[in-house]
Amino acid sequence: MASDGYDLVVVANRLPVDVTVGEDGEQTWTRSPGGLVTALEPVVQQSDGAWVGWGGAADLGLDPFEADDMWLVPVPLSRQELEEYYEGFANDTLWPLYHDVIQPPTFHRQWWEVYQNVNRRFAEAAAASAAPGATVWVHDYQLQLVPKMLRELRPDVRIGFFNHIPFPPLEIFAQLPWRQQVVEGLLGADLIGFQRGGDAANFVRAVRRLTDLTTRGQVITVTGPNGRVERHVRAAPFPISIDSRTFDALARTPEVQQRAKEIRTELGDPEVLLLGVDRLDYTKGIRHRIKAYGELLEEGQLTVPQVTLVQVASPSRENVGAYQQLRDDVEVLVGRINGDFGEFGHPAIHYMHHSYPMEEMAALYLAADVMLVTALRDGMNLVAKEYIAARSDDRGALVLSEFTGAADELGGAAILVNPHDIAGLKAAILHATRIQPREAGRRMRRLRRRVLENDVARWSQTFLAVLTAVPVRDQHV
Ligand code: G6P
Repeated sequence: MASDGYDLVVVANRLPVDVTVGEDGEQTWTRSPGGLVTALEPVVQQSDGAWVGWGGAADLGLDPFEADDMWLVPVPLSRQELEEYYEGFANDTLWPLYHDVIQPPTFHRQWWEVYQNVNRRFAEAAAASAAPGATVWVHDYQLQLVPKMLRELRPDVRIGFFNHIPFPPLEIFAQLPWRQQVVEGLLGADLIGFQRGGDAANFVRAVRRLTDLTTRGQVITVTGPNGRVERHVRAAPFPISIDSRTFDALARTPEVQQRAKEIRTELGDPEVLLLGVDRLDYTKGIRHRIKAYGELLEEGQLTVPQVTLVQVASPSRENVGAYQQLRDDVEVLVGRINGDFGEFGHPAIHYMHHSYPMEEMAALYLAADVMLVTALRDGMNLVAKEYIAARSDDRGALVLSEFTGAADELGGAAILVNPHDIAGLKAAILHATRIQPREAGRRMRRLRRRVLENDVARWSQTFLAVLTAVPVRDQHV
């Protein structure tokens, strides 16, 4: 550790690696799941910063360590904290609430208590890792109270917060019994970033409705007990991205190109390969996608073995009931469709319930003719951007839900769908499978321009530049 701390400290629920400690005490680690890690890893690697987060298992008493060119500061979570803070409040209260209540959120006072305690521990760990005057960048819905707690501990640091998931409309957010504390927690930051303009606007509206503070456009004026102006907080959109050039380069390597061909051969050389890649989450619209595909097979509009679907569904939050239910539902549906339409050696759906290394993902993207991103609600969806970054051959088609943050940026050139509209979704899938190479090329070139220009380096630089521009006098008065 740097003697007086780090100039940039990233604070997120998860470290970028999941640590496992073997019986002999030996530590091994694997990459953590999800879009947040995909985006932030290159930022921390290139800035010599520290990353404060949880190591991915209960009761890990680990000292800070270095991995993949990052200084990682583990925050231990007990089994009970995992149940009540992570599986409970974060993923059974906030996650469904912030994603359009696709699943009903559960409200438990005990979970809220533990959420506060754990947020305090993250704030303390961040305070201990930050150099004087450092920038601390807090991430996502699991840690919304950290900005305020950290400001109390370390008034000298600049605090940014970025919400990777949607911020819901007031009418939904207002259901949260602790809505005011959450808003106040976030307002401890100098800059609060969201994926979309609509998310930032929802937050500002919540501030106006739930506090006495005044707002003007993106700026919220925070006043002290006597009404004196203390600080200004900005709430603005900063659409996140991936390390596009690295992904593009990976997909161009002979090994990945070769592997893409092998995958097609292993799948029996279908004419059209459809692909879905998601964490197994009810926000991703996996059932809608499979239902639409099943109906197209039923109607004979698509036929096996000419067409096949590969669905990679990486395991996620497996102790939360809604996720267990989803897994059952998806697996019943996949089994039924394979039973009805599969042939020897040619299932209609290749369903994979595991995650793959980046090289294999790049090969899969390259092998796929059509990428299906049909989320019912998604902060951004970085899988869509990975698919585009992999397609330097300008081929392939992206079917993209209008309920993803990515649709704001890529909607013009992707084939947009409302995944609730099964008829529309079927028409979009057919369009994508029959698309002429010229049209596909035209669309993909536009998509690639956007994704290669707006990469994660630009995202973090823009966010940190705005954060650094916060006048210091605002922070200390
Ligand atoms: C989304 C969230 C992240 C989260 C990831 C994986 O991308 O925005 O905060 O880390 O999903 O979910 P998990 O619960 O496994 O961390």
